Amino acid sequence: MRGALVWLQDDPFFSDPAEALRHISDGAIVCRDGLIEAVGEAAEVLGALNEPVQVEHYPGCLICPGFIDTHVHYVQTGIIGAYGDQLLDWLLDYAFPAELAFADPAYARAQAELFCDELLRNGTTTALVFCSVHEHSVDALFEAASRRNMRIAAGKVLMDRHAPEGLTDTAQTGYDQSKALIDRWHGKGRNLYAITPRFAATSTPEQLQAAGALWAERPGVLVQTHIAENKAEIAWTAELFPDRRDYFDVYAHHGLAGPGAVFAHGVHLSEPELHACHSAGSGLSHCPSSNLFLGSGAMHVFDVKDAERPVEVGLGTDVGAGTSLSMLRTLGDAYKVSQIAGRPLDAVRGLYLATLGGARAMGLADRIGSFAPGMEADFVVLDPEATPILKARNARSGSPAETLFVLMTLGDDRAVKGTWVAGRLCKTSV
Ligand code: GUN
Ligand code: ZN
Repeated sequence: MRGALVWLQDDPFFSDPAEALRHISDGAIVCRDGLIEAVGEAAEVLGALNEPVQVEHYPGCLICPGFIDTHVHYVQTGIIGAYGDQLLDWLLDYAFPAELAFADPAYARAQAELFCDELLRNGTTTALVFCSVHEHSVDALFEAASRRNMRIAAGKVLMDRHAPEGLTDTAQTGYDQSKALIDRWHGKGRNLYAITPRFAATSTPEQLQAAGALWAERPGVLVQTHIAENKAEIAWTAELFPDRRDYFDVYAHHGLAGPGAVFAHGVHLSEPELHACHSAGSGLSHCPSSNLFLGSGAMHVFDVKDAERPVEVGLGTDVGAGTSLSMLRTLGDAYKVSQIAGRPLDAVRGLYLATLGGARAMGLADRIGSFAPGMEADFVVLDPEATPILKARNARSGSPAETLFVLMTLGDDRAVKGTWVAGRLCKTSV
């Protein structure tokens, strides 16, 4: 493929953003067998080819690494935009009823197809996904993702208390089912398993212990959960786990912190918790759309990303509390949240969160999130003139960073001209 290439080769929170961003105005990427074989200036890369190739040319577009959504619930797509509640009531009133419907395997399969298609329509090629408590909800998602050859990490939710009867498992059945799913799916094709305790409040200490023990037995898999999203949730968690120092310690104590664990939200994490997160090598998923929608608070991303104790952060849509599967729209929300938090998020750092930062948070940066020979060939092609207002605004853009910022502010699925998964075009805008 040929066009303007834009990607991050470094963390722009800890280096000069202008140097962290690579931009090649007339670039080319050669894909073979799902991987990037060569990337660079079009004249050089195409000139070095000694066999005929089919070149897909995208003049006027930006070609970026495929977006990485580090936190999303595919089982909540049906309740996006549910009115009126904050987190704990929203779970009871909307999220749990939505997930109960996944008891029906046929419904789960249909939702999984819709979800994967929507990810691709939005330029998202990798996601870290919560399924429901039902084992078959995970099968449905991995089957849909496999058909599209997407790199998806997902897991069955573990809940053995404070949830409706139809949505609970036990410490033992949750362990057994998760283990069976790992052995069925992890590393099969591009699928990865994530052990998924919903959050501390819906698991007994026994269930968290069992989840931690499973991770120790299957160390290559990921862990995902929620942390410090909402003040009432944090107070409740402190009541439920009075012996633990803080929220992060609840997970760490049960063997659920370490590289490959991704904690969603972290809006209200304390400085000692951020230190502990750094020491553990765990990542956070910043979910600004959800935090606004549920009134959870404004994450201070520049404070979280402190060079003294760096924590890796990716971006998450957190659908269904988040209101869009578009990572561009979510970046627009990240900007607004950052303004409330006191320091504006620029487009280069934003793109980092949506690509390489997410890959690093998930421990996948050797495979996805940037462009280099040997990396997996997942791309999103962004059209800065996709709508009349984008076109008019972009006419005034003076740099690739400004064009990216315009896309973050005005863009959505309409700006995604093409999505490439493992070297193949999966989505076109027409
Ligand atoms: N905390 C525990 N479960 C959930 C969930 O489904 N969504 C969000 N946003 N937060 C949670
Ligand atoms: Zn969530």
